[in-house]
Amino acid sequence: MAPMVVDLILGWWLVAASRAQQLPRPSLSLHPSQGVSLGDTVTLRCHLPRLAAWVWLFQEGGWSYNKGKEKERDTAEFSFVSTLREHAGRYRCQYRESWSEEASEKSDPVELVLTDVRYPPSSISIHPEQHVGTGTNVTISCWNKDYGATFLLHKDGSSAPIKHQDSSGGGAANFTFLAVTPADSGTYRCSYRPRGYPFVSSPLGDSVMLEVTPTPAPPGAEEQSRANLVMALVRGFVAALVFGLGVFFVIDALSLWIQRDDNCGAPPPVTVSV
Ligand SMILES: *[C@@H]1O[C@H](CO)[C@@H](O)[C@H](O)[C@H]1NC(C)=O
Repeated sequence: MAPMVVDLILGWWLVAASRAQQLPRPSLSLHPSQGVSLGDTVTLRCHLPRLAAWVWLFQEGGWSYNKGKEKERDTAEFSFVSTLREHAGRYRCQYRESWSEEASEKSDPVELVLTDVRYPPSSISIHPEQHVGTGTNVTISCWNKDYGATFLLHKDGSSAPIKHQDSSGGGAANFTFLAVTPADSGTYRCSYRPRGYPFVSSPLGDSVMLEVTPTPAPPGAEEQSRANLVMALVRGFVAALVFGLGVFFVIDALSLWIQRDDNCGAPPPVTVSV
């Protein structure tokens, strides 16, 4: 009797454990995904891989929100109608199915960054200049009136900032591009996040343009390629000659053979005497 009870308990535990493991993670998204200013409306949408009864939204180190969900919907929405500074932060969501005590794993985190337009935009400059050749080292500098901050460099057309750097005191940061290529061409802007407010951003500042022109191949390389061309031509010519000779000999041999063949099969020459 006792072993059977143990089996039952073990079986129940295995079923429960496998169910918990089978709950796939939800994912969380922001709408709009960026450029939200203080006071704007923003929605965090938790995408549910299963029909869920309860959905939670957690702010790291802050509030958590939960929500009973209408059936037959695969998302749960949490909206801040008028965002405040304390809404800025890192969020994850989680759900629970109606019949289960087990909650899913938490989603990957999503960062809600709020722009505070009261911060003056960052200044920007580019060195050595905006038109450069491939291989040049280019530095883009960003600075503000000493808000002690993390600076972010944005490139138009890229959704996320492409580089970030803590200002080493003095409210400035230098972003260096080693050996630029034409792919680095574009329009760049800076923003910053004040120290102690990692999810509050200044507005984007003025832009600088970088235009990288491909530099022509060095003269040595050109000579090299000309020499290669000559070599290729010579080789082609020799190959054609050898092939031609081969064909010639084959035809020659064939014609000899045909002649001999003709001689064998021909009737003896007729002599006509007049
Ligand atoms: C670019 O910077 C690297 C590293 O500082 C240096 O080794 C290289 O010589 C620089 N290149 C040019 C073209 O100045």
